[in-house]
Amino acid sequence: MGKILDGFKKESIKEAVKFLKEGGLVVFPTETVYGLGANVFDPIAVSKIFEVKRRPRFDPLIVHVGDISYVEKLVEFFPPQAKKLGERFWPGPLTIVLPKRECVPDIVTAGLPTVGIRIPSHPVALSLLREAGFPISAPSANTFGYLSPTSVNQIEPQIKEQVDIILDGGKCKVGLESTIVLFYEEKFFLLRPGGLPVEEIEEIIGKVEPFPPSQKLLSPGSLPVHYSPKKPLILFKNFEEIKRKGFKKIGVLFYKKPDFEIEGIEKFEILSEKGDLREAASNLFSALYRFDNSDIDVIFAEVVEEKGLGRAIMDRLKKGSAKFSIYDKEKE
Ligand code: TXA
Ligand code: MG
Repeated sequence: MGKILDGFKKESIKEAVKFLKEGGLVVFPTETVYGLGANVFDPIAVSKIFEVKRRPRFDPLIVHVGDISYVEKLVEFFPPQAKKLGERFWPGPLTIVLPKRECVPDIVTAGLPTVGIRIPSHPVALSLLREAGFPISAPSANTFGYLSPTSVNQIEPQIKEQVDIILDGGKCKVGLESTIVLFYEEKFFLLRPGGLPVEEIEEIIGKVEPFPPSQKLLSPGSLPVHYSPKKPLILFKNFEEIKRKGFKKIGVLFYKKPDFEIEGIEKFEILSEKGDLREAASNLFSALYRFDNSDIDVIFAEVVEEKGLGRAIMDRLKKGSAKFSIYDKEKE
């Protein structure tokens, strides 16, 4: 069982670094979601991440660094445009995929010739990275396909049991994973919408292409089924569309406070009373998690407009509902 420590204490950071140096696993908070970390240069420790998460080996990990000057040590080439993005948005919810140097073990990148790099902005993550002095590879701290934890209480027991340290840093402010862009042949491609709206990236470097140039460079995070609660998740546009279809107890996730009386449902949650995308994004996984651990049979979630952070929210909702959704196929 991993020891839960207050991440804001210097001694906790020191203890976590000691475990990382010995090949251990540390769960730590970032501003997006909690990560399950190991020393990038310790392939055996990294392989434990895949085992604990039950993650397929073809799914590469993001490498977290504490300072932009470290990026040159990991990549063959740091294009000026990518550097510009890093300087503007790091520390923050952006991952940039670049050609990797040989020093980055293949297990980290799942054999790909590229590496995804980011500097998280959570103070606990930054002090961990800076105290360690080496990069930390970390996927989200959930078992493969499940919701990413945005606070310590959402970390699944089988993850808690198999790690050495859990650094508690409170609730993740952004609440959605980082936006991932790939730099390839002078262009940027969006691999995953996330906590940084693509529009903000485009203000700095111009157009970001919506699809990767080849299937091979695709991030497995773009698999159609991912981020799924265990209970069926169904998307809806209008409350009247909700059909009970034999479900006894239903939970409804509203994006904002509806302008009608909510009646006839067992449970509901409102992501943001006033319809603020940032607030909604930060509450999404925790609301789904609460529904998943309540006694309802099915979760209905209201769709949001696919603009700004709405794009990342819809990406997670569509993937989470892909097994069940009637919305995409019939209504779009
Ligand atoms: O916000 C985040 O990004 C969080 C925190 C912990 O940093 N991490 C995270 O990691 O969401 P993970 O492993 O759950 O998702 C990372 C995604 C994966 O879908 C992976 O395929 C993609 O990043 N990725 C990593 N390296 C890549 C590469 N070289 N090429 C393409 N995709 C890559
Ligand atoms: Mg993940």
